[in-house]
Amino acid sequence: MPQTPTSSELAVSVPPQQQGPLLSVRGLKTQFRLDEGLLRAVDGVSLEVQRGQTIGVIGESGCGKSMLARSLMGLVRPPGRVAGGELLLDTGEGPVDIAKLDPTGAQMRRIRGRHIAMIFQEPMTSLSPVHTIGAQIAELALLHRTHDRAEARTVTEDALARVGMPDPRRAYGQYPHELSGGLRQRAMIAMALTGQPELLIADEPTTALDVTVQWQILRLLADLKSQLGMSMLYITHDLGVTAQIADTIAVMYLGRIVEFGRAVDIFERPLHPYTRKLMQAAPAMGKRQARLDVIRGTVPVPINLPRECPFRSRCDHAFEACAQLPALKEVEPGHTVRCFLHHQEVERDD
Ligand SMILES: Nc1ncnc2c1ncn2[C@@H]1O[C@H](COP(=O)(O)OP(=O)(O)OP(=O)(O)O)[C@@H](O)[C@H]1O
Ligand SMILES: [Mg+2]
Repeated sequence: MPQTPTSSELAVSVPPQQQGPLLSVRGLKTQFRLDEGLLRAVDGVSLEVQRGQTIGVIGESGCGKSMLARSLMGLVRPPGRVAGGELLLDTGEGPVDIAKLDPTGAQMRRIRGRHIAMIFQEPMTSLSPVHTIGAQIAELALLHRTHDRAEARTVTEDALARVGMPDPRRAYGQYPHELSGGLRQRAMIAMALTGQPELLIADEPTTALDVTVQWQILRLLADLKSQLGMSMLYITHDLGVTAQIADTIAVMYLGRIVEFGRAVDIFERPLHPYTRKLMQAAPAMGKRQARLDVIRGTVPVPINLPRECPFRSRCDHAFEACAQLPALKEVEPGHTVRCFLHHQEVERDD
């Protein structure tokens, strides 16, 4: 007799491989028009997010990680704007360029939550202080999942249970301030998952928590990701975290991807001098403090910078060619680097 799969077996089954990436980011530029000049927060980022893939986005403060995330969500606020590029999202009915949609329009509001959702470092970015956790999640359940109020309550309690809320019924009626930091973070994750997004963007969701809770949340996200078969973009400045959660790594510097590849390749063969410095600066196992002194200087503010290698001013290996901008080149299958040291011949990014 054929075995009927249990609901938990069904939950872990990965969706069938569909053709093409879930999201193609092509030449994304996000800029702020300031009195001081044009600030290039994201300056020509291209990457593909495959179904079920977890990309760890890593880089120092100010490298453009959050602006990349906010651009994908249509959450860039003036004076910032997405100034160029394409964000092709496969919605199941062919790719839609979400960079061209009105960020406040109905179509983008549906995509946000249903296709792409985001969790932030500070849960109060998405939780309202004046409504109960249950009311906030149920509202999203009514938007994305059901028109029935009783069912929305069930969906909400299930979501709270799924993220490990000790008492989902009680949490339903609580206000965010009544929960600990770790539980608030769990509530925000439940909220982000309500629309059953295909891509979850996590922007440093654990940095405000103490170390034990950080690892619990990381574990939870890894479990949810594999249960739900989502893709994830996990933003962090902590290489140890990417080692735990990411299968692919994008290293960002000054609004650009400078190295991209499978996590094993990046950890075994980091090629860009910036990636190597980040690895040297990573805290030793069991130590909390990163050795930031390893990378000399600070990330410049990306206003009126010359079109040269973005890392030139801080690099120990810079030579004449670095006065031009290197192209992001594939050096082994799936491993690309933006550095002339690893180009057979100088290839600029024009
Ligand atoms: N609202 C804003 N107005 C002006 N400039 C901004 C604004 N938000 C970000 N920037 C600038 O955009 C660039 C990228 O910032 P972003 O917040 O994306 O960095 P990040 O990599 O997320 O850093 P962190 O690790 O500190 O979160 C920085 O130079 C930053 O100063
Ligand atoms: Mg940030």
